[in-house]
Amino acid sequence: MTIVIHTLDEIEKMRRVGRLAAQQIEMIEEHIKPGVSTGELDRICHDYTVNIQKAIPAPLNYRGFPKSICTSVNHVVCHGIPTDDKLLKHGDIINIDVTLIKDEFHGDTSKTFLVGKPNVLGERLTKIAKESLYKGILQVKPGNHLGDIGWATQTCAEKNRFTVVEEYCGHGIGRVFHDEPQVLHYGRRGAGIELKPGMIFTIEPMVNAGKAAVRLLSDDWTVVTKDHKLTAQWEHTILVTDTGYEILTYRNDDTIDQYG
Ligand code: MF3
Ligand code: CO
Ligand code: CO
Repeated sequence: MTIVIHTLDEIEKMRRVGRLAAQQIEMIEEHIKPGVSTGELDRICHDYTVNIQKAIPAPLNYRGFPKSICTSVNHVVCHGIPTDDKLLKHGDIINIDVTLIKDEFHGDTSKTFLVGKPNVLGERLTKIAKESLYKGILQVKPGNHLGDIGWATQTCAEKNRFTVVEEYCGHGIGRVFHDEPQVLHYGRRGAGIELKPGMIFTIEPMVNAGKAAVRLLSDDWTVVTKDHKLTAQWEHTILVTDTGYEILTYRNDDTIDQYG
């Protein structure tokens, strides 16, 4: 297994594309309300990426994926396909996952939004999924191991009597969308490879309200919880620095400073 150690020049390009991905999540927020379709959200993001950001939506035609973003509503774990038939309603939760390419480098981030009047469980699950991501990020520093990240994301979810999905994971990212290493969201402290400055990967825990088991729908993309209970996900692209981490897809609504 070879894991890319990025040069300063490459890191600067990852900062730039990471910022664009973060800005896209900020841009879409005001459009997320009851009555809007996920197809419409996809068109807004696509046009913004191409016309304003002068970037490329990485999901479009990636291994046959038909749209520019993933929209995963309620019991959809990840890779939900936007469609004009799916209208959001009060109390839904929706994960918007965007990946952009600029100057050949990828920035990948997602957030779960509450639609309209929030539902109590949806709100709590969404908050814990975000906390799980932050607990994972806080483990990122040279000398720590990948297993420390998985241990932290899993422990956070399970302390709150939720579960983490095991079939999908974070990933190395840079010139390649999904690169080594795999970043599992469960694990043991000290397990796996040691983190080194210049590594860049995503952390993207999927946290379920019910059981951890998932099922792939016949479209070969949409992943749902087997028990059809709610699920939430948050994702950031993270650089390992000399002393810790840098969130390359950081937004102004990030609250990691509140989680020590
Ligand atoms: N952005 C997703 C991730 O976090 C991958 C989406 S691949 C797609 O890795 F083809 F479904 F878009
Ligand atoms: Co990702
Ligand atoms: Co993503």
